[in-house]
Amino acid sequence: MIPHPEIGNVLVYFQGEFVPLEDAKVSILTQALHYGTAVFEGIRGYWDAESGDIYFFRLREHYERMKRNCNLLKIKLPLTVSEMCDLSAELVQRNKFAENVYIRPLAYKSTRSIGVRLAADDDFFIVAVPFGDYLDTHRGLDVCTSSWRRTEDNAIPCRGKISGGYVNCALAADEAHSSGFDEAVMLSESGHVSEGPGFNIFMVRNHKLVTPGETENILEGITRDSVIRLAQEELHLPVEVRKIDRSELYVCDELFFCGTAAQIASITSVDRRVVGTGEIGMVTREVQKLYNAVVVNKFPKYAEWCTSAYRYQRAEMAI
Ligand SMILES: Cc1ncc(COP(=O)(O)O)c(C=O)c1O
Repeated sequence: MIPHPEIGNVLVYFQGEFVPLEDAKVSILTQALHYGTAVFEGIRGYWDAESGDIYFFRLREHYERMKRNCNLLKIKLPLTVSEMCDLSAELVQRNKFAENVYIRPLAYKSTRSIGVRLAADDDFFIVAVPFGDYLDTHRGLDVCTSSWRRTEDNAIPCRGKISGGYVNCALAADEAHSSGFDEAVMLSESGHVSEGPGFNIFMVRNHKLVTPGETENILEGITRDSVIRLAQEELHLPVEVRKIDRSELYVCDELFFCGTAAQIASITSVDRRVVGTGEIGMVTREVQKLYNAVVVNKFPKYAEWCTSAYRYQRAEMAI
């Protein structure tokens, strides 16, 4: 596990203004704190020393997903997608970051009361923090299949990025770490592969890239979508979106996690069984190479995925 450094007193956007992190405080009666009634996002900004800029990866798509997901919890966002994009750039500028960053917007039920329901009051903040690697992308990971099943859509929808739902991920990650594994793969109640606790999963099998479908209790990942497009268009690799059996993890050629925090992280063993050659596979390496170039705006075809933080132009859209 990569240790996470303590976060300094960065400026954050909280209750309509920019304040130091230490001054952004919520009541201990805040409903979301008790019941997990909140929706969040995670967005990376990549520092490119050559251009002296930070590029957000698919910024607008993240806020569009957040807006859709807020509907699940009947949270009314106080800002438009464009305004949230603008604020993210302003946060980076005000903090004068010159390194990789992570943007964490969170919309939450802010009513101060006891009682389980979707409370009436909503609030919203955005935090931007320096952020390095979350998983080690330079070596293969040893993972286990978790004894914790992924929550079903009609229990807590995984596509929602709902705070309370991440207890499921925390249980799986903790079990894996305390048993000496790097990470976990979670199965759905049906026994099919779902995803990791914070990352989608891809398998290479029979010269195809395979990933579980959107109805397998996964977060509909933006990195997953990017990997599918890069594999099809740049590697000319067929991509199959289908159910994956647990045992396919043991007999496939390559496996990797992908996600905003995870980036592209190779998996070289599952439940102490070697995957493929036991080294980072060729397809995984190619996907990593493409992804690492695209996110720092070094691939003009995908320039629309990158939003400059320091040369930011305000979004014209009213939504
Ligand atoms: C449970 C889960 N799955 C997958 C992902 C990857 O999604 P994305 O690529 O949009 O970051 C995340 C990360 O946010 C996640 O929390």
